[in-house]
Amino acid sequence: MKPLYPPANPNFSSGPCAKRPGYDVAKLKLDTLGRSHRSSLGKATLKEAIELTREILQIPSDYRIGIVPASDTGAMEMAMWSLLGERPVDVFSWESFGAGWLTDITKQLKLDGVTSYSADYGQLPELSQYNGANDCIFTWNGTTSGVCVPDGEWIADDREGLTICDATSAVFAMAMPWQKLDVTTFSWQKVLGGEGGHGIIILSPKAVARLESYTPAWPLPKIFRLTKGGKLIEGIFEGATINTPSMLCVADYIDALRWVESLGGLEACIAKSKSNLAVLENFVAQHDWIDFLASDAACRSNTSVCLSLSLEAAQVKQMIKLLDSEGVAYDIGAYRDAPSGLRIWCGATVESQDLEALVPWLNWAYHQVA
Ligand SMILES: Cc1ncc(COP(=O)(O)O)c(C=O)c1O
Repeated sequence: MKPLYPPANPNFSSGPCAKRPGYDVAKLKLDTLGRSHRSSLGKATLKEAIELTREILQIPSDYRIGIVPASDTGAMEMAMWSLLGERPVDVFSWESFGAGWLTDITKQLKLDGVTSYSADYGQLPELSQYNGANDCIFTWNGTTSGVCVPDGEWIADDREGLTICDATSAVFAMAMPWQKLDVTTFSWQKVLGGEGGHGIIILSPKAVARLESYTPAWPLPKIFRLTKGGKLIEGIFEGATINTPSMLCVADYIDALRWVESLGGLEACIAKSKSNLAVLENFVAQHDWIDFLASDAACRSNTSVCLSLSLEAAQVKQMIKLLDSEGVAYDIGAYRDAPSGLRIWCGATVESQDLEALVPWLNWAYHQVA
């Protein structure tokens, strides 16, 4: 039977993700608009975004947090171009974005001493192979396969290399062990449903020491430069951005951070995301035509939940189109490079009632096309 009620919010995209419940663009604090981002008001607002990020994500006080251009990709590439090449690098990848970082390293930076550990969609490579004498590149949550690392236990505390982690679909949804991470990046458009365009880069003291002691052999565009005269540009980490940010996006990010506070902070955000995943887990347990792409539950993402269906790829497309045309679910197709299936965002800006309302529609749509 066709279900009666659609989800109140049909936005289940894995980026940009759903806006927070109760979001109202008219309620953003917009006193910075039309002003210089380098005015005391502009800089204070950027600093507020940085310090709220630190507080909510429980980032150590000696780690630097910067707002940088070009979203998560900008933050990751800035880190790789600025830091890599000093020692061999181990690259762990298991889906499209991790594979993209490997391409950067091998085909663009053309580094020597690269060891690639990769796994197919749905699996993780053996993380214990990481050699702590080397640098390490990895993605905390593979957004396009729904596979995340279970923890940071495979990273030695006394490593000599730097760990550089793309955590864009993990922060605010998964616990991050900061002591294991030397560079962490994310963008606002993901877990908190913010806007695209800006990235966050988080540096450990060890990453800063590398920046100040090592100069890459290649030229760095201004947009990637974190040091001047061999010293860290501290201003970047205090609200003096490299170039002009969108203060509208900053206001939107601060609104999302304040919402996390009102929810009860990071732990509440993580718990909400996990209970969202539980709605889909219950549904999958009750239907034999749908399964998680992530074979091991310990590595199953609680944000970008990827599902395989016992349907041909063309039928999956039909099902996605049907749900879209019914106004029930938007943007839930698997990523273009990933195996055919569904990808349903379960971060904290999604309400579990909306997932409860969605699942009977999945069943209905499946039977329409099967
Ligand atoms: C794991 C991962 N890395 C990088 C990106 C690229 O992010 P952005 O478009 O914010 O640069 C994405 C976007 O979906 C992602 O999921």
